[in-house]
Amino acid sequence: MAEVLYGVATSHVPAIGAAIDHGKEEQQYWRPLFEGYEGARKWMADTKPDVIVLAYNDHASAFDLDLIPTFAIGVADKFPIADEGYGPRQIPEVIGHPELAWHLAESLILDGFDMTICNRMPVDHGLTVPLSIMYGSPEEWPVKVIPLAVNVIQYPPPTGKRCYALGQAIRRAVQSFEDDKDLKVAVFGTGGMSHQLQGERAGWVNTPFDTDFLNRLTDDPEGLTEISHVELLRQAGSEGIELVMWLIMRGALSRRVREVHRHYHVPASNTAAGLIVFESSEANVLL
Ligand code: DHB
Ligand code: FE
Repeated sequence: MAEVLYGVATSHVPAIGAAIDHGKEEQQYWRPLFEGYEGARKWMADTKPDVIVLAYNDHASAFDLDLIPTFAIGVADKFPIADEGYGPRQIPEVIGHPELAWHLAESLILDGFDMTICNRMPVDHGLTVPLSIMYGSPEEWPVKVIPLAVNVIQYPPPTGKRCYALGQAIRRAVQSFEDDKDLKVAVFGTGGMSHQLQGERAGWVNTPFDTDFLNRLTDDPEGLTEISHVELLRQAGSEGIELVMWLIMRGALSRRVREVHRHYHVPASNTAAGLIVFESSEANVLL
């Protein structure tokens, strides 16, 4: 039986990807950030999930304001690296898992989540930077990836509550995937933590809010689903809304989890960079 065993949430700041691609991890500005990633990278290399369901937001790469799916799932066998204006990052193509992706699409839609199904979708920094954070610069990604794009660009984004429920539905869907390989699945939530890239409060960071969010993601995720969009905007800045995607990850895990790694560093570009890694402590338990 396939099972969601692991959860990772991390910021997806494009400059972190650029620092990795250009060998700047040891530079003074970047070293404290990357030092904090070391334990998580080692954990990733040891645990080796087979598939990642990766919740991220597209930043006008696959979609633009002509077409704004709230939740979109990539069912292709591969996903090209998007050109975000300075040429595609020189990293391996992302390899999908069409069988599990189609099973997820079917299960989620029949479970009441009206997913948009994508047969072709370039993937941008929202998806690729988290892979680079966890895997560095391999020749090939050692994992299959199912992209799950969430609209947090154009109001109204989905609520935290809906995202958490989607995570719970992903857990159920993975558990009902019948194959003989006992797939080990990880779910990623990306974006955040507090940051604002625009307007009068550009550069906004709120460390007390982020610390509380990290604590409650472990112990009180359902409490976090009560935070309204307006409150998230006030506390975490306009782009802090990306944190709703962390709740997809957390919803896909068992109620009790083991926190295996945490890192928080300010700033990475304009962002409070957070990373948290969980193991589901109650595998095989349906929510
Ligand atoms: C930055 C952060 C983001 O989440 C993003 O999508 C783009 C840029 C930044 O801090 O530079
Ligand atoms: Fe972003």
